Amino acid sequence: MIKIAPSILSADFSKLGEEILSVKNGGADYLHFDVMDGCFVPNISFGIPVLKSVRKATDMFLDVHLMITEPIRFVSAFCSAGADLVNLHVEADSTDNNLKALRIIKTEGKQCGITLKPNTPPEAALPYLDLVDLVLIMTVEPGFGGQKFMSDQMDKVRSLYRLREETGNQFDIEVDGGVDRYTAALCLEAGANVLVAGSAVFGATDRADAIQAIRNSGI
Ligand code: DX5
Ligand code: ZN
Repeated sequence: MIKIAPSILSADFSKLGEEILSVKNGGADYLHFDVMDGCFVPNISFGIPVLKSVRKATDMFLDVHLMITEPIRFVSAFCSAGADLVNLHVEADSTDNNLKALRIIKTEGKQCGITLKPNTPPEAALPYLDLVDLVLIMTVEPGFGGQKFMSDQMDKVRSLYRLREETGNQFDIEVDGGVDRYTAALCLEAGANVLVAGSAVFGATDRADAIQAIRNSGI
């Protein structure tokens, strides 16, 4: 099943509650929450107190994308703050620490995921595939919304799709960065089933139309 996850990084924070409601009413499946620490990526966004407020404001599934160094330090706090899924970058720490972090998330009763930056090969996901509920393939360099979609990442999506078949593991394949009603078709065709979209959704006046166009792009 295709899931659309608007990223609130592109929302108007002065009226965040209304923005969230508009994408919920517009048919979004998940809410994507981008955490940036100014160290792992060259930008700072928002963190735990904002997640707590968002959790109070909505019952939507909260897909938390941690773009932070050594995420093991904070995964438990993000679970307590209301995340439904906590996702960390494989590049953000050693494999051992990342595996420990993923186990902490599962122990907290939440879903867990890993993310691969554009220059990270698909094989980097292998140590984690028994454990994760979702693998996120970045289609821009993480750090900013509104960048151009990297179509050369579709081979990686296909590789993950094949690895899922070969290993018999069950995980969703998510893409993030530059996804709109045109590029979404490429992602779906390559095998992704969760599509993050920031500016394509929050930059549109009609959120329901933007979400529906992304969902139907593969048809
Ligand atoms: C980028 C973030 C994305 C971003 C996507 O580092 O992970 O989630 O908000 O924004 P768009 O859809 O505008 O590329
Ligand atoms: Zn993201």
